[in-house]
Amino acid sequence: MVVNVGNAGRAESATNTGHLARTPYTRSDECIDSDAGTRGVAERYRDFAWREARGRSDAHEELSARISQDPEFCDLLSGSLPAGNKRQPNLLLAAVRYLDGPHAEQGPHGAAAYGRWREWTIRHWDEVRAVIMQRATQTNEPARCATLLPLLARLPQPLALLEVGASAGLCLHPDRYRYRYQQAYGYEGGAHGAGAVEVGAPGSPVVFGCRTQWPAGQLPERLPEIVWRAGIDLNPLDPVAVPDDLRWLRALVWPGDEERAARLSAAVEAVRAAPRPRIVRGDLIDELPALAAEAPPEATLVIFHSAVLTYLPPARRAEFAHLVRSLLEGRAGGGHWISNEHHSVLPWITAPAHPSPRPEDELLLTLALDGRPVALTGPHGQSLHRLRGAEEAAGAARTTGS
Ligand SMILES: C[S@@+](CC[C@H](N)C(=O)[O-])C[C@H]1O[C@@H](n2cnc3c(N)ncnc32)[C@H](O)[C@@H]1O
Repeated sequence: MVVNVGNAGRAESATNTGHLARTPYTRSDECIDSDAGTRGVAERYRDFAWREARGRSDAHEELSARISQDPEFCDLLSGSLPAGNKRQPNLLLAAVRYLDGPHAEQGPHGAAAYGRWREWTIRHWDEVRAVIMQRATQTNEPARCATLLPLLARLPQPLALLEVGASAGLCLHPDRYRYRYQQAYGYEGGAHGAGAVEVGAPGSPVVFGCRTQWPAGQLPERLPEIVWRAGIDLNPLDPVAVPDDLRWLRALVWPGDEERAARLSAAVEAVRAAPRPRIVRGDLIDELPALAAEAPPEATLVIFHSAVLTYLPPARRAEFAHLVRSLLEGRAGGGHWISNEHHSVLPWITAPAHPSPRPEDELLLTLALDGRPVALTGPHGQSLHRLRGAEEAAGAARTTGS
């Protein structure tokens, strides 16, 4: 197996600030407050409104903008929440929705509606605060399986899947969903559609749509055979057994994206009857060696992750890449590493620049197999743009098995 981490040091020294780098996946609300007081909180909400919510959720944009102009409410936040992640705007907004606060689905429209939201939130502050202190912002996007499937299906079978940053583990069940690959010429679904290829688990209650120019003949005809699955997360959720965990995941989906919330619930239904993968609570580097050692030796071990490494400081990302490489190299029969992260997160995995970039391209993730970029993927699995060289990367993995 070849895992190229050769430029990791350079990448680190450029970005190792001790904070998360600012990318679409290292959002300002995940950074640590530099100003722990009321003004810092107000700035954080203003920043969130403009830089995060704008264009994605009118409700969250309006709400966070109004909070930023409400010094009394910002006082409450700075006085009763510890500085840092517990002051993420997204965490408060989700907590109120989780508790069925006013306008939980749509958010305020106008000053009077904001007044009602504010009054309710202050009246229920003890409960809201308890949710904030107990929970964390974390999503789980099972539709990302649509972008993983073409790679998983081409590796030597059967597979042992190990996902780091697994959240609720929904991406550990790529064989329980159906997929509709909408064939599209040109970039990101371009102008000319050319039919769809549907594959996946028959009768699954969920079908993930994915636009792609991946040749129809090379899309998977069969699902991967998965004989072992496990994950690691700092805060594993179990939306199958714990309805509140599903409610929390749904509360974190931004208002206006009901399709995503419905998709999440349907995916939970799709895996309800399946044995639940073990998800170890802990740090993905600390827990990885012991968990990887449990994978059955006769299966191809696939260590994968999507939208996770951004939470690690750059030095830890490089450490993780080295660890994965050494674990897979040291394993009889080898294994593979699939990463699906924003290009700025693993900058030594470079994807070629697209000839006609569009603003939304900035959000795309780079799908890489053993450190070689294979595709650019929509952040929620909605598109899969195959890169030149993908065939060679997948072919090498298939023939060597390591
Ligand atoms: C944005 S979610 C992505 C979840 C899932 N990979 C997906 O694609 O839907 C990131 C997850 O990584 C987890 N996480 C962040 N840092 C971690 C760490 N150091 N060790 C283990 N899990 C971590 C978070 O708890 C969260 O569940």
